[in-house]
Amino acid sequence: MPKIDGVIRELCEKAEFMAIVTNGDDAPHVVANWGDYLRKVGIEPDRIVLPTGGYRITEDNLQRDNRVQVLLASKAVHGTRTPGQGCLITGTGRIITSGDDYDRVKAQFPWARGVLIISVEDAVTQL
Ligand SMILES: Cc1cc2nc3c(=O)[nH]c(=O)nc-3n(C[C@H](O)[C@H](O)[C@H](O)COP(=O)(O)O)c2cc1C
Repeated sequence: MPKIDGVIRELCEKAEFMAIVTNGDDAPHVVANWGDYLRKVGIEPDRIVLPTGGYRITEDNLQRDNRVQVLLASKAVHGTRTPGQGCLITGTGRIITSGDDYDRVKAQFPWARGVLIISVEDAVTQL
C-alpha cells in the first residue's frame, strides 16, 4: 500500500511549502522546500524527492542520524471538521549528488547541487 496516497497525496499536490526537520547535535534543525518543486520532481508512492541547493547542515545531520520529519499543510484540503488539513510524514533521508534521480532533478533545477530523497515510513493527518 503506497504511503503517499489519498488525502496525503492531495496535500502534496496543494501545499505551498513544507517544513523538513532533522536531528541536530543538540537541537532539531528545520529547513523548507516549495510545494511546486515537490510537484515537479518529487511525489512518488513511497518517496519524496526534492532539489537541494543548500541543506549543508541538514546533510551533516542526516549522515549522523537519517531520521527525518516533514510537515505540510493546505487550507485547500478539508480537515475532519474545518477547511484546512496537514500531515506529518516520517521517514529516512539522504542527499545524493549523482545518478538517475540527480540527473532528473538537475534537468528541472539547474541550480541544484544535489537531491534530498526521503523514504517515507509513515504519513498521518493532523487536523
Ligand atoms: C519556502 C522555502 C523554500 C525553500 N526551498 C529550498 C529548496 O528548494 N532547496 C534548498 O536547498 N533550500 C531551500 N530553502 C532554504 C532552506 O530552508 C535552508 O534555509 C537552506 O538550504 C540551508 O539549509 P541548512 O541549514 O540545512 O544548511 C527554502 C526555504 C524556504 C523558506
